[in-house]
Amino acid sequence: MKFFIDTANLKEIQEAQDLGVLDGVTTNPSLMAKEGISGKNNVLKHYKAICEIVDGDVSAEVIATDFEGMIREGEELAELDDKIVVKIPMIKDGVKALRYFSEKGIKTNCTLIFSAGQALLAAKAGASYVSPFIGRLDDISFDGIELIEQIRTIYDNYGFDTEILAASVRHPIHIIKCAEIGADVMTGPLSAITALLKHPLTDIGLEKFLSDHAKTNA
Ligand code: G3P
Repeated sequence: MKFFIDTANLKEIQEAQDLGVLDGVTTNPSLMAKEGISGKNNVLKHYKAICEIVDGDVSAEVIATDFEGMIREGEELAELDDKIVVKIPMIKDGVKALRYFSEKGIKTNCTLIFSAGQALLAAKAGASYVSPFIGRLDDISFDGIELIEQIRTIYDNYGFDTEILAASVRHPIHIIKCAEIGADVMTGPLSAITALLKHPLTDIGLEKFLSDHAKTNA
């Protein structure tokens, strides 16, 4: 399973990259706003800066919600760097835009997926990735992980190439469950990735190893 980091914070992206486990980055307008990035030129510059840090795909979201606008913005984003994946919302014009970009060989990530039907439609339109938001489903008492299972089954039934990018991942259990099901990618905050490191018995065990070593090597 590929690990993407879900942030526009350059420091966190660098930290995940330095850990040596990072396969890509996802962003969205809220994450860009959180970093105080505004204005078209600054936004484009920021995507460039992200692309310089990471080796893998970088999802950059369009703001337009009409077909022509999405195409215009998406083409501009895709020209920035080969790593850019154009992120398109799951709306009617978005589905048309997915088909358009797919035929042009430009990678896409269909975002705001909350149902298996939406994921099926995005795959049929040729999306490179679909982003089911599991945390936000959990927030309203729907099982986000169950949606990942459903999409996995559907894609496997028909051999769709679209990759399942589990998004809105909030904690390490989400990551582990996604890996068990066979999500292709998970995107989450740095805190969820580094939480995978932790086990109290590891800390206790290391402390004991070091103190035993110190006793005989004083
Ligand atoms: O990848 C989607 C993500 O940015 C949404 O996460 O935590 O705002 O639901 P969250």
